[in-house]
Amino acid sequence: MLKHFLQFKDLTRAEHDYLFERARVIKARFKRYETYHPLVDRTLAMIFEKSSTRTRLSFEAGMHQLGGSAIYLNTRDTQLGRGEPVEDAGEVISRMVDIVMIRTFEQDIIERFAAHSRVPVINGLTNEYHPCQILADIFTYIEHRGSIQGRTVAWIGDSNNMCNTWLQAAEVLDFNVHVSTPPGYEVEPERANLYGTDHFESFADPMDACRGADLVTTDVWTSMGWEAENEERLKAFADWQVDAEMMKVAKADAVFMHCLPAHRGEEVTGEVIDGPQSAVWDEAENRLHVQKALMEYLLLGRVES
Ligand code: CP
Ligand code: NVA
Repeated sequence: MLKHFLQFKDLTRAEHDYLFERARVIKARFKRYETYHPLVDRTLAMIFEKSSTRTRLSFEAGMHQLGGSAIYLNTRDTQLGRGEPVEDAGEVISRMVDIVMIRTFEQDIIERFAAHSRVPVINGLTNEYHPCQILADIFTYIEHRGSIQGRTVAWIGDSNNMCNTWLQAAEVLDFNVHVSTPPGYEVEPERANLYGTDHFESFADPMDACRGADLVTTDVWTSMGWEAENEERLKAFADWQVDAEMMKVAKADAVFMHCLPAHRGEEVTGEVIDGPQSAVWDEAENRLHVQKALMEYLLLGRVES
């Protein structure tokens, strides 16, 4: 059956657990310089309507390492930028490649593409979600501290695509998210497509959100697509900077994460992101390993090797 990964909850808890275990195996093999080419002759199309460093690199390198190849497309150089309907693009592109990754604006665009695709479609970031990043973040947490079930994640800052995806992941994998945003930037449960809110609590004061947390995380105050609001956001978010005081009220062994790119001195201090509790480089690297596991799963299903 054709499977897409458009939102975190498109896969079940058992499937996510499989992917974390599979990513561990694939990463260990990669670190031993073992060749592993299950996707020989398979092609990934990567469609970017927004900028990227990590997502492009990890998908392109990942597909190459699995024996396949990747093609980079962007809005500027394709007919998508000249108004070709996304449904037509889905029909055509999916007849020529085996799997597609899209980074775009509204979630609706990727949903419409996928509805017309013959092959699996992966969300490489939309305005609403960033599921591949949360896959990497949770895998990183597991590597550092073990299972995330029952743990508490403190989300500080904007209720953006990362925040929404953390909230979905908490429902799927049974952990808690404490969210603190400035007034006017609160979580919209409908936009986050939450089917339950049992795992989510909001706090006016970011210090209260961090108290007792196992993982503290944040993201840029102005996401791609919201650049016109940058000046007013800088003022509104000034008290939502993750600093040493916030890390101090979290658990003593709390981990700090940030999907990157980061703005030191805005959403996080240099002391925290470059400090001993930060896992940001492992987090970035793990995009490669979890996405290799994801592409393998979407194309081949569960494998034993
Ligand atoms: N974290 C992340 O998705 O980074 P890029 O925007 O560089 O792809
Ligand atoms: N929330 C950020 C994430 C970048 C990886 C954005 O959407 O721009």
